[in-house]
Formats: sequence, C-alpha cells, structure tokens
Amino acid sequence: MGCSMSRLAKATISLVILALLFMPGAMAAVVANFDASRSQHLPLPHGYLSVAFDGQGHGPYSGVSDGRVLKWNGNKIGWTNYAHGPDYSSEACTASKLCPETVTESHCGRPLDLHKTGNLYITDAYKGLMRVGLAGGEATVLVNQVDGAPLRFTNGVDVDQITCQVYFTGSSMNYQRSQHEMVTKAGDSTGRLMRYDPWTNDVTTPQSKITYPNGVPISHNWTHLVVASADPCKLLRHWIKGPNARKTEPFADLPGYPDNVRQDRRGGYWVALHREKNELPFEF
Ligand SMILES: *[C@@H]1O[C@H](CO)[C@@H](O)[C@H](O)[C@H]1NC(C)=O
Repeated sequence: MGCSMSRLAKATISLVILALLFMPGAMAAVVANFDASRSQHLPLPHGYLSVAFDGQGHGPYSGVSDGRVLKWNGNKIGWTNYAHGPDYSSEACTASKLCPETVTESHCGRPLDLHKTGNLYITDAYKGLMRVGLAGGEATVLVNQVDGAPLRFTNGVDVDQITCQVYFTGSSMNYQRSQHEMVTKAGDSTGRLMRYDPWTNDVTTPQSKITYPNGVPISHNWTHLVVASADPCKLLRHWIKGPNARKTEPFADLPGYPDNVRQDRRGGYWVALHREKNELPFEF
C-alpha cells in the first residue's frame, strides 16, 4: 500500500502565504520568519487547493480546479499531468467563459486534498475518496457514499502510517462544494470524519455532526487527528488511541475560518484561514 514508507513532508509555505493574504494582523508573527529570497514561485494554470510531496521528496503534487492533480518536475519540465478522476477529459474539463469551473466541476472533479506515500490518496469534493498508484493516471474511487448517504463534499485526508487507516472529512451531507457558502449560512452541521480501511475496504464514521469540517492531519505520535471546524472557527481533536480513544474535544479557538491544516515538525499545526471570524456571521 506504500503506507509503511517514510512520512511525507507536506508544504506549508503556500499555507503561510494564504494566511498572510487574508489575515495580515493575526499572522504578523509569521511574517518576520519568512525569507522571501529562499522562495520560488511555481505558477499553476488553474486555481489550486492542496500540495503534497511524496516519500522521496519529489513533487510537489497539486490538485487544480479543473479536476487534475499535477506534479512539479523541476524548472526544465515544470508541471505535468499526474492523475485525474474517472470521467475527466481535457476537452470537456478545460473551463472557458461559456463553461466556467462551477459548471464543469461536478463532472470533472475538484481535488481538495492529497496525501502521498507511494499511492496518492485524493479527496475530491465531488467524486469522494480516490486512490492512484505510483504511475499516476486515472484514480480509482474508493468511497463515494457512507451508510447509504452520498458524499457530497469530500474535503481533507491524512493517512495513519502505523495502521494504514485513511482518515478523511465530508464537509456536508446536504451541500456540494459549489454551494459552500450555504454550509455556513445555513449553519449546516452534517459534516463527518470518516475512516477507510484499505485492507477490508470498510468505511466507518468515527465522528458525525461536525460543522463544516476540513483538516484533517494526524498527530506526530499517531494518537489523534486535528479537524478544522467552522463552528465557530475552531480546531477539534479526535483521539484514535489511548484512554480517550473515539472522543472528540475542542482543541483551539481560531481568529478566522479554517481551511486546510498541516502538521509542523515540532508537534504544532499550521492552519490556513480564509476569512476573519467577524466577516461571516452564521445567522443569516
Ligand atoms: C501524543 O501527543 C499529545 C500532544 O500532542 C499528547 O497529549 C499525548 O499525551 C501524546 N501521547 C503519547 C502516547 O505520546
């Protein structure tokens, strides 16, 4: 499964930049440590949401808004197609003025998060949890419904490198990604944390009734997961080992609405905030 390979390093630089763009005040402490002379701009053809490196340090891999996952191959070659979901075709999925991504994405897919150690796990907002092997190409959909309820808005993913269990979030059972504003406006709380077992293909729901979950990194010592939630602007901790296993508890209050969350290398987490807390009231 590639699960036993060394833990991948995930890029946090873009997340820092995201946070800086939208949260200049709150993230000021980060600015002082960011050395722009050591950064490189890798232009992408379409909007992207997540980046991941593999166990060998290759990449990054990045999901883009037309449904593809691209791989960076260095300055000479640049970005190449790496993976896509079923039903992707470049003719139908290349967005234009007449056919914007909001129209094509439910058919073409929209990868929101990636995890690569050998196999690449992709959470696609529309297609669900997918996996593609080392050579890339068309990904296989592993999960697109749980307990009879379709996954309408699959979001974050991480893999427990000890047990190979794949943890992923569904942001809502009612709204799709293109209706993401409704998730917050309606105060929808049908988000779920789910677990896929690659040995049996079983899917379980360790935690349901979460408001707009995203995330979902596993901790350094493999004991808990951190789930971002928009209710209202916080991180949750879901224990998977130890005396509190299966319990979910508040972990941190945030000054804004969280998107992706990544581990840093010292036991902490980077959180990308896309909006300040007071900008998006829950009650409409
Ligand atoms: C794992 O780390 C968390 C904090 O990051 C800590 O609360 C917990 O005690 C640790 N557990 C073990 C078994 O190391």
